[in-house]
Amino acid sequence: MENRLDLTDAETRALGNAAVEWMAEYYRTLRERRIMPDTTSAAIRELIEEPLPQSGTEAGRLLEILQSTIARLSRHNGHPRMFGYVASPGAALTAIGDMFASTLNANVTSWRSAPAPTEIEHVAINWIKEILGYPKDAAGLFVSGGSLANFAALAAARSFKAPGVIATGMDGHRRLRVYVSEEGHFSIAKAAGLLGIGQANVQAVRTDARFRIDLAELERCVEKDLTAGYVPACVVATAGSVNTGAFDPLEELAGFAERHELWLHVDGAYGGFAALAPSAAHFFQGIGEADSVALDPHKWLFLPVSCGCVLYRDADAARRTFGHDADYTRPVGLEAEEAFAFWNFGPELSRRFRALNVWLLIKYAGVRALAEAVEHNMACARYFEEMVRASTDFQMLAPVTLSIFCFRYAPKGFTGDLDALNERILVELHRAGHSYVSNTRLRGRFALRGCVLNHRTIEQDMEILLEDLRQAAHRALALDGEGHPLPAGS
Ligand SMILES: Cc1ncc(COP(=O)(O)O)c(C=O)c1O
Repeated sequence: MENRLDLTDAETRALGNAAVEWMAEYYRTLRERRIMPDTTSAAIRELIEEPLPQSGTEAGRLLEILQSTIARLSRHNGHPRMFGYVASPGAALTAIGDMFASTLNANVTSWRSAPAPTEIEHVAINWIKEILGYPKDAAGLFVSGGSLANFAALAAARSFKAPGVIATGMDGHRRLRVYVSEEGHFSIAKAAGLLGIGQANVQAVRTDARFRIDLAELERCVEKDLTAGYVPACVVATAGSVNTGAFDPLEELAGFAERHELWLHVDGAYGGFAALAPSAAHFFQGIGEADSVALDPHKWLFLPVSCGCVLYRDADAARRTFGHDADYTRPVGLEAEEAFAFWNFGPELSRRFRALNVWLLIKYAGVRALAEAVEHNMACARYFEEMVRASTDFQMLAPVTLSIFCFRYAPKGFTGDLDALNERILVELHRAGHSYVSNTRLRGRFALRGCVLNHRTIEQDMEILLEDLRQAAHRALALDGEGHPLPAGS
């Protein structure tokens, strides 16, 4: 039988070289690209939908489709003015890392399955602990992203407060309660729902003027739950909220968690790697007391998706939650270190070699360059805030804590609906494709929201963004580029 699945040696070289050429060109021209393609779902489907192919396609033709259709009709998250959501920028080095990981096809379940990749993961996790100031003997592993890291941490928290839950379920346990600020990420409530804690048992705690968890309110919530006979189980500190970048006070929360015997989980999916930046170091006082931490190398460590990370201060707490022995996985005749298995610390068995890109980028760039990139991202966000505060047509809606900036267009004398106007501005901005921010609601108001999380972004990009927004606002108001009303019917 002919092997139609493997490329020939010559095809591998030709296709691989052409793909690398394309990659180099992609990164060279990234800045000039439209960020969001001007297209529709139907238009894309028309190009790619077809009946299940019964016979194959020539490899070169596939590369053509990859470039001319799939790449062209994607949003370019690595663009220096892609400020929407918490985008992951990626880099050529880590794209090459992905190719290497897929070629090697290591399945990083355990040392036996992947000896060197397992050791690379240990090294990369140790580096992350060092960046964070987290205890050396903590356990940790890479997962698909922040949501799964939060899920794994909450699972460990649940075992801590409901011993035996893994074996027998929640029957016989009193109601567990989880506390997170109202600015916490939805993955916390989602995890609580999936873990049988119940989304209704996630108590959203009011925030202060800087959108940080209100400690007095937290205390009241816990007292109320104790009186009701519930079991306060876990407090989640948000270390960089997705809405505004707010950073909950870790040291105070660590003391609080200790007094109430709560599991302290830190959701640092967005802000965790701000620990690299000297100007943000003070936020991380107390992190060593956290029982678990979620981080996303695919956010502020500039890696491509998908790479999240969860750390547990007490390795045994993770083992009690995830540890599993099956006859078909039991290591035989191995010393302790070689018997090591990641499945004892997280929900997955088969795992991609995610650690490779973490290791590659830290080793290539060095921590100093990464710290400078994070610091510079924060400086860009502050620069944007300064420009907004100095303007007469925009206003900030939240202070900049890390690299997220929330603001809106609010020209003097405008008496119409500002929420509706800003929604129209966002649509206009996306339509133009030159800069990209996303949206949120803050204290009931529609906010434009940007996040600088890209080593390619420079101050000039912040100036361009503001100008693009101004032009979008004028279009939304049906004014010309100079801000003058357009003639009727134009
Ligand atoms: C604070 C926070 N937690 C969790 C997440 C979820 O991370 P992921 O998208 O990697 O699942 C995000 C995503 O933006 C986040 O900002």
